[in-house]
Amino acid sequence: MSSEKFSTCLICWYRKNKRDLPWRKTRDPYKIWISEIMLQQTTVSAVIPYYERWIKKFPSIKSVSRASLQKVLKVWQGLGYYSRARNIHKCAKNLMQFHGGKIPQGYEPLRKLPGFGPYTTGAVLSIAFDKRFSIVDANVRRVVMRLLALKGQADTTKDKKVEVFLEDVMPQKAMSDFNQGLMELGALVCRSKEPACNMCPVKNFCKAYAQNIQEIIPTPKKIEIKNISVAVAIIEKNKKFLIQRRPLKGLLAGLWEFPGGKLKKAESSKKALVREVKEELGMDAIDLRPFMKTKHFYTQYRVLLDVWKCGLKKYPKQNDDRKWVSLANLKKYPMPSGDAKILEKLIELKGIK
Ligand code: ADE
Repeated sequence: MSSEKFSTCLICWYRKNKRDLPWRKTRDPYKIWISEIMLQQTTVSAVIPYYERWIKKFPSIKSVSRASLQKVLKVWQGLGYYSRARNIHKCAKNLMQFHGGKIPQGYEPLRKLPGFGPYTTGAVLSIAFDKRFSIVDANVRRVVMRLLALKGQADTTKDKKVEVFLEDVMPQKAMSDFNQGLMELGALVCRSKEPACNMCPVKNFCKAYAQNIQEIIPTPKKIEIKNISVAVAIIEKNKKFLIQRRPLKGLLAGLWEFPGGKLKKAESSKKALVREVKEELGMDAIDLRPFMKTKHFYTQYRVLLDVWKCGLKKYPKQNDDRKWVSLANLKKYPMPSGDAKILEKLIELKGIK
């Protein structure tokens, strides 16, 4: 294959057909970095409003470094995978302290920064500075698996072959358009279902297309979505509500939530609530009244929240990880999406009656 021809076809197609996305209006490495972090595990349409809001709130590395972690997490609230936001915050401080507030242009110094794995490092260097680094995300992996007629599931075990191919076909210049062209091709044409091969600028290079096996590459992954039921307690005293901070490691780390927890097997929601309040607060829940039910979908979980209003025999004092907060101030606390829905309802009803 003429590798030059491949990249020329791809880049021309990209320049004519690319979507007008907000991070494509800039070459500012800071903005490219933020967009690339947000786009990991998240769709373009979900990212756009978050990206716009983030750039308005934090127009520079310096502004992120000076913000509190709480503010940063609040702007991220709802995007999920919150360690991404914590790493951006840590990284911005590091850039101010050791790199003059600028993103380094070399692979090694960049790769050492918090949150800069091989993908993000290659993406920022190629997209912002046109450096010759290939990148492999889910779209690129699928596109190249088809180009090479590589059968099997789209997992990282294919990446060595994918990278060897990319190394062979990547251009000397215009790496930003080449890498984004591959991703765009995956998003718009070489889609996982019903690829539009007739529109493809590189179909003549595609081994799967030649054999008409593009629809069975890659083999689909089975994702099992688990149901989780959670009982939640809305505890109010003197117009203030009790919230707790989640542990700083693990799922939804450091976010604030109403007390409660998962139901055990065959346990009723009411029993779970009483048990969780005892375990988490050391207190006895009394006077339970149903408040609302809500669902929230995560990538691999469907969480059903059964929310109760309740009193306590004795009310705990606040500390670093447990606060009594007024309805107006609750909005300042970063929360998991399920808890944010409960808060919305509380605001709508102006508290519990
Ligand atoms: N996914 C990851 N990076 C992207 C980009 N720059 N444009 C569109 N989708 C992407």
